[in-house]
Amino acid sequence: MSAVDARVLAALALALAAACTSTDRGPPEPLDERLPAGFPPMPVADDNPTTVEGVALGRQLYYDVRLSPDGSRACASCHHQARSFSSESVTGILPHVNLAWSRTFLWDGGFEGTLEEAMIMEVEDFFGTDVVLLREPELEAMFDAAFGTGEVTTRRAAYALAQFQRTMVSGGSRFDAYLEGDAGALTAAEQRGVELFYSERAECFHCHATRLLTDNAFHNIGLDAEVTGSGRGAVTGDERDDGRWKTPTLRNVAMTAPYMHDDRFATLEEVVDFYAEGVVDSATLDTLVPIGGYRLSAGERADLVAFLRALTDDGFLTDPSLGPPAR
Ligand code: HEC
Ligand code: HEC
Repeated sequence: MSAVDARVLAALALALAAACTSTDRGPPEPLDERLPAGFPPMPVADDNPTTVEGVALGRQLYYDVRLSPDGSRACASCHHQARSFSSESVTGILPHVNLAWSRTFLWDGGFEGTLEEAMIMEVEDFFGTDVVLLREPELEAMFDAAFGTGEVTTRRAAYALAQFQRTMVSGGSRFDAYLEGDAGALTAAEQRGVELFYSERAECFHCHATRLLTDNAFHNIGLDAEVTGSGRGAVTGDERDDGRWKTPTLRNVAMTAPYMHDDRFATLEEVVDFYAEGVVDSATLDTLVPIGGYRLSAGERADLVAFLRALTDDGFLTDPSLGPPAR
């Protein structure tokens, strides 16, 4: 590089630095959210645009035990990234994946509302967050960067958590690559599993629907003969909702054992055996699920399990930007 070039560059660098320090910091930049191919548009909140700064604060709080009044736990104490933000040891936990599309939360739909409202419920009602514990200089600086002032409120904490949740998007499994035209992304057995999953013989895709692999609705799939007052029915008081539970997403399902709202199945093989031969009748059994199950052969069951395992998105499970923030 010539001396002149070097001087020009140095002058440019100085000018840039001056420009950055002399202008006021405007509102944080909205994050450019690129969704995986085939995903429905993500519902967003007009009063809570997703920004780099908001996501950084949400991520901090998700992993920060100061969110609980006795400093004992954070969201991540139960919701583990390697398990698609679920846990093997927390009974009946649900994963945190693609929740931005959800409007009813919890297995029985016990909470209905926007993602922001769900996070307010988690922070204020479930955790009982004491904002005094969050009034630390380094956190106040993050609230300032995210919301324009350093004021710390439970509502802002929840809004930041909602922004972080909007980045917890999983759509990078081998199945997605297959759908995008890479025929070699799935083995022959996995491809047979896909065919069965999307067939009228095993009606899986009606409920585990769209690229989200959930319809975000409630169904009785025939786990129990006695369903009175259970599931969605316990929330709505409507007996037609008895025994109906939230359809869980199947994304990363190989990582979210044990299965069902009550963890009754330890493995995917057990789940598929249930669908193949274990479905029992009750007053609200979904018409898509036949009594006695879909009567699948051993080979068909193995193919379905192989397909379910191909829904693992390793990039999501190991993405450093979703992991604990650096200290
Ligand atoms: C003590 C363990 C534990 C901690 C800590 C925890 N959760 Fe959960 N979470 C659960 C369990 C268990 C469920 C499922 C409960 C149910 O459906 O009845 C759940 C479900 C959820 C759901 C509903 C998901 C869906 O698909 O409907 C959301 C949202 C959620 N948690 C957010 C959070 C946030 C945010 C935090 C931190 C503020 C947090 N959780 C901390 C155990 C925990
Ligand atoms: C009528 C809607 C419906 C159909 C059809 C259906 N499912 Fe489900 N699935 C659900 C619901 C609802 C649950 C949760 C039930 C519960 O916990 O009580 C569930 C749970 C599961 C689970 C456990 C996931 C977890 O995280 O606990 C797997 C795996 C699964 N289904 C795969 C399948 C497969 C494979 C098929 C086709 C053979 C299928 N489903 C057909 C609605 C359906």
